Amino acid sequence: MNFLEQKICDEGLVLSSSVLKVDSFLNHQIDPEFMKLIGIEIANRYKSDRITKILTIESSGIAPAVFAGLELGVPVVFARKKKSLTLTEGLLTSKVYSFTKQEQNEISIAEKFMHPGEKVLIIDDFLAHGEAALGLADLVIKANAHISGFGIVIEKSFQEGRKKLEEKGYRVESLARVKEMNTNGITFIQSEVMSS
Ligand code: G4P
Repeated sequence: MNFLEQKICDEGLVLSSSVLKVDSFLNHQIDPEFMKLIGIEIANRYKSDRITKILTIESSGIAPAVFAGLELGVPVVFARKKKSLTLTEGLLTSKVYSFTKQEQNEISIAEKFMHPGEKVLIIDDFLAHGEAALGLADLVIKANAHISGFGIVIEKSFQEGRKKLEEKGYRVESLARVKEMNTNGITFIQSEVMSS
């Protein structure tokens, strides 16, 4: 079991067979030391890819993305889910449907922060149905930039997010891949050993 899988087992709460609560270190309270390790691990997997920018989405993708950005020495842009008072011109937008919340959001970034030809690493906290990930990919495509791959903290492998991304030819690196979960426990698809 890697250090993230261990943390999920120690602190995660299985709310149902499809929803995992990890608010003690990822979705509400953030454990900075732990998140730094997560960021370093994602960065290590892409360190030979000459990444020039990281793209994530508010809010829970920001913490792992910032630590990965620190490690790779590149800026981090986060897509907004709501219109911002100051973010009004030169926007790239994409529609994202949330299965969890059963609502459609228009996500956006400023064009000026995503240049044609950039090599972009897309990071998010969860990969579930893959809608947010595909929306972020769409923003990169609209900017004429290149998607180097995805860095995901927790993948729910029993949902179809990874399949959708791989079908499009994208590389997906997930630090923990949940195969199955219920009130008796969580099983993971065997992952690479990560040092902590
Ligand atoms: P998708 O983007 O992969 O299609 O997934 P979905 O619509 O199901 O997810 C919508 C939101 O719910 C996302 O966060 C996603 O990270 C989160 N989510 C999905 N499955 C789980 C889960 O099992 N546990 C937890 N804790 N979150 C899950 P969000 O609403 O955008 O929230 P935030 O980033 O602002 O925290």
